[in-house]
Amino acid sequence: MISRDSASATLEARPDEGPVPFLDLKTQYAGIRAEILQALEEVADGATYVLGPRVAGFEEAFAAFVGARHCVGVNSGTSALHLALICAGVGPGDEVITVPMTFVATSWAVSYVGATPVFVDVDLATLTMDVRQVERRITNRTRAILPVHLYGQSADMGPLLEIGRRHGIPVVEDAAQAHGARCQERAAGTMGLCGCFSFYPGKNLGACGEAGAVVTNDADVAARLRTLRDHAQGRRYHHGELGFNYRMEAFQGAVLGIKLKYLEGWTEARRRLAERYQAGLADLPLLLPTEATDRRHVWHLFVALHPQRDRIRQALEERGVQTGLHYPIPVHLQGAYEHLGHQTGDFPVSERIARECFSLPIFPEMTNRQQDRVIETLTEILLEVEYA
Ligand SMILES: Cc1ncc(COP(=O)(O)O)c(C=O)c1O
Repeated sequence: MISRDSASATLEARPDEGPVPFLDLKTQYAGIRAEILQALEEVADGATYVLGPRVAGFEEAFAAFVGARHCVGVNSGTSALHLALICAGVGPGDEVITVPMTFVATSWAVSYVGATPVFVDVDLATLTMDVRQVERRITNRTRAILPVHLYGQSADMGPLLEIGRRHGIPVVEDAAQAHGARCQERAAGTMGLCGCFSFYPGKNLGACGEAGAVVTNDADVAARLRTLRDHAQGRRYHHGELGFNYRMEAFQGAVLGIKLKYLEGWTEARRRLAERYQAGLADLPLLLPTEATDRRHVWHLFVALHPQRDRIRQALEERGVQTGLHYPIPVHLQGAYEHLGHQTGDFPVSERIARECFSLPIFPEMTNRQQDRVIETLTEILLEVEYA
């Protein structure tokens, strides 16, 4: 437990430092500015603004990075999920098993294809799909299982793939937060039929705008994804099925191609910061995130739980530490899904996370000094909360 002495030693002002931001994209950009600007200039000069060689080059590099045969670049992670579910054969009236503790886009994709999200709770240890609950939710309308590799840690994919195989149901991975994560040495996104990534700017690999991708080992699925993202035109102006304009922009392909070279180093920096948080916060009355022994966590977010979350967040904000909330309302309690008839209490672990979670700053450029300030400030606040 924390002692009053150790906490009071942390009260010294550090006038040389401003607030600790939750995320600092400007510092990351400053380090690679010249490279990015040169690539953007080349795209502008080449005047191929949509798809083209920069997108194709990135697709090839990202497929190699995760160890998948194919990568198809699209305009967002949400579009990636939508197309992946179409390729998995999910349509109107079908059911998709997924989790309510995620960003809502996971469920949007299910709804876009006219199917219904059927939720199972997450487990408190990994905060990902509780694999013990999946099989009992399978019906004759289940067409896909859609786990989310939340916060940067892969779901427990072994049992999920085995359930999928046994029932003939494809597994589609929401890997939007898990670039470079692994489960038993296999990369997140490459284990199911398709893996869906987001390159929204704040993600571990982020574009300078919107972008996403689907990776797959299935050549037919890859070919269909390429067609679907481009108005379903296999041949120009021939549209064999309903298509979409989900093409990736060349500027984003160029940015992503450059940033991908740095991703492993950035991930290692995140892992080191996560370890420092684990050590520095170990004695506090917080539920801290953990890395499962068979997985490689890439720490997109570092999410802790405490029953007095709101009070702690406010105090952190007042003392110059920004935090995030991922996510304050689980999907089954969102207004958009009211028609599913869920109530508070249906998914107690997800609801507890929603009530108690707060995300501490973690980004590759974060200095030890910034992180020490977070640890010291949080220690100080928890001491006050405990003795209040
Ligand atoms: C788990 C999860 N799924 C899906 C998405 C959707 O990705 P995008 O914002 O690129 O559409 C996100 C990101 O916001 C996400 O975190």
